[in-house]
Amino acid sequence: MLRVQDLFKRYQAQAGEPAGGVFGVTFEVKKGEMFTLLGPSGCGKTTTLRCIAGLETPDTGSISLDNEVMFDGASDKIVQMYDRDIGMVFQSYAIWPHMTVFENAAYPLRVSRRKKYTREDIEKSVDHVLEMVGLLKFKRRSATQLSGGQQQRLALARALVREPKLLLLDEPLSNLDAQLREQMRAELKRIQLEWGVTTIYVTHDQAEAMAISDRIAVLDHGLMVQLGTPDEIYELPRSEFVANFIGRTNMFRGQCINVAEAGSMGTVRSEIGDVRCHFPAKLGAGENVSFVVRPENIQLRDVNGGPAGDNVVEGKITNRVYLGEIAEYSIDLDGKFQLLVRAPPGNGAKAGDRVRAYLPPEKTIAIFS
Ligand SMILES: Nc1ncnc2c1ncn2[C@@H]1O[C@H](COP(=O)(O)OP(=O)(O)OP(=O)(O)O)[C@@H](O)[C@H]1O
Ligand SMILES: [Mg+2]
Repeated sequence: MLRVQDLFKRYQAQAGEPAGGVFGVTFEVKKGEMFTLLGPSGCGKTTTLRCIAGLETPDTGSISLDNEVMFDGASDKIVQMYDRDIGMVFQSYAIWPHMTVFENAAYPLRVSRRKKYTREDIEKSVDHVLEMVGLLKFKRRSATQLSGGQQQRLALARALVREPKLLLLDEPLSNLDAQLREQMRAELKRIQLEWGVTTIYVTHDQAEAMAISDRIAVLDHGLMVQLGTPDEIYELPRSEFVANFIGRTNMFRGQCINVAEAGSMGTVRSEIGDVRCHFPAKLGAGENVSFVVRPENIQLRDVNGGPAGDNVVEGKITNRVYLGEIAEYSIDLDGKFQLLVRAPPGNGAKAGDRVRAYLPPEKTIAIFS
């Protein structure tokens, strides 16, 4: 549905600061997909969306929507913003306070250049979209008389009213409190599924991205550093940045002992000993490598349970935090290194105990560093 190829947009840098923007971003979004751009503040998420929407002219690259070229740097072709069949909800969703709920949602139809809408068309489309977001009963109200969550839904209705081919959502839930956020997130997903509208969702909140997306592109400093399903990104991070940005993890450094082919098991001589790891990409002998292992994938074992075996480290529990269905253990690996483990709380392990921790090789992921 959408193809973004080698997109470059470099902003003028202020004196002494690095230039912001995006520097060669490529991805495709499938029809009906919920695709998320995830990354820390300033990584280029809004820039990418603005280029797709036509609010910003890229330096080079190309963007096509439904096989129609929207921008092509090589041939200087550019389709103006209002001629692109795209709906957008901005980071600070702008609801017009001097208009009613109905007029806010009707606005894109009234100003449409692509198609003329009759009064009946407008009434019908707006009612439909307001119904969808649960605001039909407020349609005659002034937009200022809506709560934050309702204004948010109105912004969404306005973006959807023309039934765009592509919906762009720039941190649409950032102004809401935690509870409403979660509720709206589910609501958004429902609307997206019901309408089947292809959506690009922007957030810096990894939990939100995991919950809502079919696929996630992780951005860092204007570069796309990984692209995959939420499971892939979480289970097989390809860089230290992604591993640390997505969820909590343990990370240690070392060197690769032997050549490890992509998809194979290999051994890392690390700061906590020799550890067998899964290698998602090929690495050569002697190369610097890190490995990551998620706290919930580590198994706690008794120190008296026979010989330690491979991939087992030993230490002392310094802290145990009870979290209900799970407990979180901080383990001091004899002075220098800490290991975070999440394990069932009923195993009797408590602060001060010596324990062993087993790092399952298939869940211990080597990363080029
Ligand atoms: N008009 C502009 N002029 C100069 N620099 C800009 C401009 N717009 C954005 N930038 C810079 O480009 C970089 C990317 O900005 P962008 O707005 O895309 O970030 P973002 O990922 O959306 O961040 P956030 O999560 O904070 O919204 C930032 O370093 C920003 O300072
Ligand atoms: Mg932004």
